[in-house]
Amino acid sequence: MSAPSITVVGSVNLDLVASAEKLPAPGETVTGASFTQHPGGKGANQALAARRLGADVAMIARTGEGPNRDAALALLKEDGIDLSGIVSDPDQQTGVALIAVDAAGENQIVVASGANGDLSPGDVKVPGRPDAILCQLEVPAACVMAASRTPCGLFAVNLAPAGPVPVSLLETADLLIVNEGEAEFYGDGIHRGPGMVALTLGGQGAVLYRAGKEIARAPAFTVPVIDTTGAGDTFCAALVLALCEGLEEGDALRFASAASALAVTKPGAQPSLPWRDEVDAFLKAQD
Ligand code: RIB
Repeated sequence: MSAPSITVVGSVNLDLVASAEKLPAPGETVTGASFTQHPGGKGANQALAARRLGADVAMIARTGEGPNRDAALALLKEDGIDLSGIVSDPDQQTGVALIAVDAAGENQIVVASGANGDLSPGDVKVPGRPDAILCQLEVPAACVMAASRTPCGLFAVNLAPAGPVPVSLLETADLLIVNEGEAEFYGDGIHRGPGMVALTLGGQGAVLYRAGKEIARAPAFTVPVIDTTGAGDTFCAALVLALCEGLEEGDALRFASAASALAVTKPGAQPSLPWRDEVDAFLKAQD
């Protein structure tokens, strides 16, 4: 079987990460943190996760120029993602995410979108007819709508971070992926179309619905939690890849849960994204 082709339309960020004992309350200063810097952005994370899990991946995005761009794209380049659809804008900054992670692996993220916010529908030039297009909401909704009009095998949207989108997007996507907070934001609107909805429930696993009816459920795997950043992105990429590979829905959901479980066992977003052989070995060890 040839590798599925997946085009990701989404954000590219540089993640500036402070790991501290606890997250600050509003107005509070927390000291004693350690600092690291990683490539990130929900779009780029999902592109890299799909690539590491076995897909041929093309990325459509916008960045600034200079060292932040180079750092943000380093791992995508290293792992062989097609970056020809990434526009670099000399007048904009590459997106930056300020991330605080606590000792339990929970995070707070503030994104300075920079060039991500300037991605335009005209930038969405998807190569060929991919097996899947995967979008998130760290770029303008008009770009996601442009992607939705592009022929592909499976059109998937991770509704993160939650924000207003045209109802037609919710009703026509083949697959919507949400966490509990996002599901609450959109309410019943995500279940009105004929497509699938994947709901992640953290420690309670994940559920897959079609046209509002539960069709599969996967329990969470118990792993040591170091950093949850990027785990949701891994889940999205893994689920889309598995569905493109023709896995039955329950198996695809289990594969995605396993991949995201592995992502929380390492620090950082992109450095924590698992490779296919790691996920396969992890799943085999569970049998
Ligand atoms: O989903 C995690 C990502 O959200 C981080 O990499 C950060 O860049 C933000 O976009």
